[in-house]
Amino acid sequence: MSKQDNFFQLLFQKKQIILGELISMPFELCFRLAIKGMGKVSPNPLVGAVVLDKDNALLGYGYHEQYGSHHAEVHAIQMAKTQKPDLSECKIYVNLQPCTHKGKTPACAELIKKEKLKEVCYLLDDPNPLVGDNGSFSKANNNEEVARYQDLIAPFLFTCTNKNRPFIAVKTAVSKDGYIAEQGDSRRWVTNEECRNYGHLLRHYYDAVLVGRKTVELDKPNLLPRLNFMDEKIPWRIILDKDLKTLADQKTLLKNIRKKTILVHSSQTSEDFDGLTSMYVESQNYHLQYILKSLRKDYLIQSILVEGGASTHASFFDEGVVDRVYKFSGDKNMKSPSAIAWYQSKNPFQFDLCKELELSGHRLQEYVRPDLLPKI
Ligand SMILES: NC(=O)c1ccc[n+]([C@@H]2O[C@H](COP(=O)([O-])OP(=O)(O)OC[C@H]3O[C@@H](n4cnc5c(N)ncnc54)[C@H](OP(=O)(O)O)[C@@H]3O)[C@@H](O)[C@H]2O)c1
Repeated sequence: MSKQDNFFQLLFQKKQIILGELISMPFELCFRLAIKGMGKVSPNPLVGAVVLDKDNALLGYGYHEQYGSHHAEVHAIQMAKTQKPDLSECKIYVNLQPCTHKGKTPACAELIKKEKLKEVCYLLDDPNPLVGDNGSFSKANNNEEVARYQDLIAPFLFTCTNKNRPFIAVKTAVSKDGYIAEQGDSRRWVTNEECRNYGHLLRHYYDAVLVGRKTVELDKPNLLPRLNFMDEKIPWRIILDKDLKTLADQKTLLKNIRKKTILVHSSQTSEDFDGLTSMYVESQNYHLQYILKSLRKDYLIQSILVEGGASTHASFFDEGVVDRVYKFSGDKNMKSPSAIAWYQSKNPFQFDLCKELELSGHRLQEYVRPDLLPKI
């Protein structure tokens, strides 16, 4: 098993326990397959599909592997047909309603009809308004219960639909006593290499990585995932920089993937962005709700990993737009009068701890907003 598979396995473990009570084995398999598309299919959802014959023997399976490529149903049907050209006695299970519209690929509902599959079972309605109803497909009958699990099945997609903004995860690395850095200090590692590697994996999982402009000035982070075994996808880099104070820095720093770096600003400058992406926001609209909505609409960004620093994090917590928190803690105290506390929001920290991991003596605590079910 690759390191990547291991990581996804880890993400899946606890979810499986809960889903196991609710869903049948074919759907369980759909999820196991779907999760393999993490980090590669956004803004599409994670989808897995299996084809069973009339005796419930597995004939084919597949998942949505890459944005723009075949949907899960196509892979599963193609594999099944190599074993059994006539699928008219077969059933297909898929975790999301098969699409009825032609997008980058043909509609899956058409293919299902063409192959005359006898039964189509899916778990969740696709929130995409283009996916029309198809009366002949049956939703799993425990659906009301399962609907509560939509955040788990396709958290990014459903957060976008329900909240009209991308899914937001905050990532922070803190000393044992809860500080991120000393005032004016440039980058200093507070957690170990294992924590940092985990952080790099997370960058693959999200569509974008966002920081405040002071972190750019002080740390000069490149905000790229550095693990070469997952080099299929480069996330967007977003910098909140109202007055474009970091533009000069960016010109020298970000050479190769400039167009995937968005500077969010309110400056009516005539300066050359030199390949960087300029997102101009009028001063009166320069607030998170507006910016997040625009990032979703204009750049199809469904999920953002907010990497700090503390005041940027505080603004997200203040606005109540945080869905998940990854808090990595080191094993040493910072103990300095000028140390910056990681949590500075005016709102109390009201998230549920859902996971704790020990990483070679350091620690990851993962929290979710209380209404993000289930408590895993
Ligand atoms: N340990 C860690 O995990 C970690 C991670 C990242 C950074 N850090 C450390 O954190 C320190 C920097 O943190 P910091 O809190 O001083 O600064 P910061 O959060 O990096 O940047 C703050 C600036 O970003 C802009 N900004 C942030 N949120 C905004 C919002 N909602 N709307 C509009 N503008 C927004 C503002 O720029 P304008 O003032 O131009 O409007 C604000 O002054 C550094 O020492 C860095 O090393 C630590």
